Amino acid sequence: MPRVIEPTELPTAVAASCSVAECIDALEYQGFDPQAEDSLLGAAHWLARLGANHDFLAEIMVAELANRHKADDGSTAYGPQVIMLSPLGRPYFLRAAIWPSPEEHMFRASGGSAFVYELPHDHNFDFLTYGYFGPGYASDYYEYDYENVAGAIGEHAGLRFVERAQLTPGKIMHYRAHRDVHSQLPPAALSVSLNVMHSGGAQGWTDQYRFDTDKDEIDGILSPGASEVFLRIAVGLGGAEALDLADRFAARHPSDRMRLTALQARAGMLDPIAADDLWRRAEASGSRLVALEAVRYRRELALVSAG
Ligand SMILES: [Fe+2]
Repeated sequence: MPRVIEPTELPTAVAASCSVAECIDALEYQGFDPQAEDSLLGAAHWLARLGANHDFLAEIMVAELANRHKADDGSTAYGPQVIMLSPLGRPYFLRAAIWPSPEEHMFRASGGSAFVYELPHDHNFDFLTYGYFGPGYASDYYEYDYENVAGAIGEHAGLRFVERAQLTPGKIMHYRAHRDVHSQLPPAALSVSLNVMHSGGAQGWTDQYRFDTDKDEIDGILSPGASEVFLRIAVGLGGAEALDLADRFAARHPSDRMRLTALQARAGMLDPIAADDLWRRAEASGSRLVALEAVRYRRELALVSAG
């Protein structure tokens, strides 16, 4: 389960609140390396100081409402659930996340899954979270060993249930990449958390999973990278260069996920017999992920032809 950072662990007492600009300045100066204890606790300290500022988010929201007729300047990405508080392109970013209760119109209109409630998942990045407003969401927390899974759909995950806990006001938690899994429950009333997110360059090459906690299995991949989508579209359009690139990626790309993507893109263009032949050869590719997925695809193809 994510590490709860107690106020006594912070480098200095959270004496006063700070502005968003001061928080960003501090993070910019000291960086955010979740693997380094000093850096982690330093970021937690500034997050707690920002959390002690009870005005800044309302001021941002009011300003946004007043200026909504103006075009987005690109420095912020406002979605229904997330308000970006710092520019992207850094090793960290700061955001506020809004968690509606079942009483909110947006929850009733879109359903809980639109807000990732009750969708057990891990994260392919570390982050700090702070209970800023409202009672806070609860989560069922699990842990698993990322190194022990290849990342195939239906693969045994080895989840270990830890406990159900709530992000109560003022609480700070450190979610560890590829280790902490949670299934969030909607809060009793609208809640807001503040996050310092780690954003590393290698992140796009590691998986984030959705889990089936009843079956203790990997249920899906939540982190398809932009290059994967590009490859699928390029192969789908059928150009000779794209097909050649897909063949080379399938044979020897350093990322197993990209090898699998290349094979999926190629298989999607083949009839069932040729696709089965492709997956049969892929079973001996030497990649555990590709081999497991190849078995699954061949099973699906067999079911289709039998049905
Ligand atoms: Fe999450």
